[in-house]
Amino acid sequence: MSSSFMGRDVISILDFKRDELEKLFELSDKARRLVNRKLRILEGKVVSLAFFEPSTRTRMSFEVAAKKLGADVVGFSSEESVSVAKGENFADTVRMLDSYSDLIVVRHRLEGAAKFASEIALNPVINGGDGRQHHPTQAMIDLYTVRELFGGIDGLTYAVVGDLRYGRAATSFIYALTLFKPSKIYLASPPILVARPEVTSLLKSRGIDFEELSRLDEVVGEVDVMYVTRVQRERFPDPSEYEKARGAYRITLKLLEKAKRSLKILHPLPKVDEIELQVDSSRHAAYFLQASLGVPVRMALLAMILGGEL
Ligand code: NCD
Repeated sequence: MSSSFMGRDVISILDFKRDELEKLFELSDKARRLVNRKLRILEGKVVSLAFFEPSTRTRMSFEVAAKKLGADVVGFSSEESVSVAKGENFADTVRMLDSYSDLIVVRHRLEGAAKFASEIALNPVINGGDGRQHHPTQAMIDLYTVRELFGGIDGLTYAVVGDLRYGRAATSFIYALTLFKPSKIYLASPPILVARPEVTSLLKSRGIDFEELSRLDEVVGEVDVMYVTRVQRERFPDPSEYEKARGAYRITLKLLEKAKRSLKILHPLPKVDEIELQVDSSRHAAYFLQASLGVPVRMALLAMILGGEL
C-alpha cells in the first residue's frame, strides 16, 4: 500500500504527483467510513504538534486524526508556552521533539521553517503552514472537498479570491491545481494583494489558462469553485498597507445572484468579514464541510506516512 508516502516529509504540495494525491483521496474515503471508530493502527506511535503560530483547525484536526488512529499526541500551540520563550533555538526544539516522537507537524511564521525542521529531524515532518509559502495538507483537504462536491477536480473553472500575496492556503491551492487539469483559474485580488511572481510563472510554465482580475462581478457566472481567503493581517510588513487592503472585497448574496446554482464556495477558515454572514446558509457555502474533511484526510495521510494499514 502507498509505499511512496512511507516515512516521507510533507513540505509542499508540489512535492506530490497527481496519482499520489488520488491514492490519498481513496484512503480518505476509507477513513471517513471509519471516522467514528477508535482504531489501533498507530498504537505506540507519538505525533508531535509544534505550533509556533496560532491555529484552530489544523492543530485540532491533526490531533483528532492521530488519536483516532490510536497514536499519542504531544505538543504546544504557542511559542510562549515552550522554552523558545527562554531563548531556545528552533533547531534544538525540533531535535527534542524528534527524539520524543515519530512524526512532527510544524507551523511557523517563517517561510522555510518546516523544510529546515525536516533537515534536522530524522523522523518525518509535515508542514502545517510556513509563513506565506506553503500549506500542503490544507491543499489536500481543499482538493478532496472539490472531488467530493463535483466528483472530480479536472475541467472546472476556479476563482481564487482574496489575499494571494501573503496567503499560504491560497498559494498552495493554486499550486495543487497545477497538478490537475482545471479549465480556467481566475485570480481575483485587490491590486496590492496579487499572486506572487513565482506562482504566476508556475501557472504559465504548466500551460494553465489563468487570468488576474481585481473584481469578480464579470466572471462570477462562469465559476464552479470559488476559493475565498482572508486578508493575512499578520503578514503585512506595513500596517498602513493592511488598512488599504482590508474590506477591498466581499462575497455577498447580491454578487452570488449572478452565480451558477452549482457554484460552491470554499474557504480555509478562519473567515473574518470577506464573506457576508448570510452566505453561510446558502446552497453555495461548502467551507464547513471542507473543515470537517480535515480529519479523514489527515488520518489517511498520517496512516500512509507512518505505515499503518487503514
Ligand atoms: C489558514 C492558515 O493558517 O494558513 N488557516 C488554516 O490552516 N485553515 C488560512 C488563514 O489563516 O487565513
